[in-house]
Amino acid sequence: MARLTAGIASSHIPALGVAIDLGKRGEPYWDAALKGYDWTRDWEAAARPDVVILVYNDHATAFDMKIIPTFAIGCGDRFAPADEGWGPRPVPVVEGHPGLAWHIAQCLILDEFDMTIINDMPVDHGLTVPLSLMFGQPVAWPCKVVPLAVNVVTYPPPTGNRCWLLGEAIARAVASFPDDLNVQIWGTGGMSHQLQGPRAGLINRAWDTRFLDDLTADPQRLRHIPHIEYLRETGSEGIEMVMWLIMRGALGAVRELHRHYHVPASNTAVGHIVLEVLP
Ligand code: DHB
Ligand code: FE
Repeated sequence: MARLTAGIASSHIPALGVAIDLGKRGEPYWDAALKGYDWTRDWEAAARPDVVILVYNDHATAFDMKIIPTFAIGCGDRFAPADEGWGPRPVPVVEGHPGLAWHIAQCLILDEFDMTIINDMPVDHGLTVPLSLMFGQPVAWPCKVVPLAVNVVTYPPPTGNRCWLLGEAIARAVASFPDDLNVQIWGTGGMSHQLQGPRAGLINRAWDTRFLDDLTADPQRLRHIPHIEYLRETGSEGIEMVMWLIMRGALGAVRELHRHYHVPASNTAVGHIVLEVLP
């Protein structure tokens, strides 16, 4: 059977992807932000997931005001890196896992989560930057990816509790897939950041640290944080952190293996955590 073995959360700051692509690791500013991922790259090389369910948000790349799915699952064979204005990132095409993805879609919909099924979509920095952070610069990504896109761009995004419940349903779906697969689930985005307006540049280290702590210490608190608290305490884009709760809701009991928190990097507090599922 397929097994969910670990969860990872990470910011998906586009400038970190550019820094990797342009070989800027030697510069102190980028090195300080990127070195917290070295541990994870080594760990991933040993963990060798077959599939990553990659929870991310599209930033008006595949979806715009014409269509805004709350939850969408990528069931296609492959997903091309998007052109976000400077040409597509020079990273491998993302290979999907249609068998697992369609199984998850069926389970979730019969479990009363109304997923949008997408076969063809470009994937933007929300998905490709975490792949680069966790896997470096391989000629092909070392695993298949099931993209799971969440609307956190246009009000109303889903609640943290809804995200948590979706994570629990994803775990049930994975556990009922007959193939022997090592599956990870990643949640991307965050941590505190606001990209525009009078509060642009807002960072809340104390709030972010408590959120990281409570992924293991008190995850039940996190699922009930209201939107207004994310907005007030973590800036307009901090709402991306509800996607971490899909990851966390899928995992059950966990042990924290690794954590990285760093400011400054672009406009965002870099947050990253690796959680191992306990047997
Ligand atoms: C930045 C962060 C994001 O999450 C994003 O989607 C775009 C930009 C930033 O910090 O620059
Ligand atoms: Fe973002």
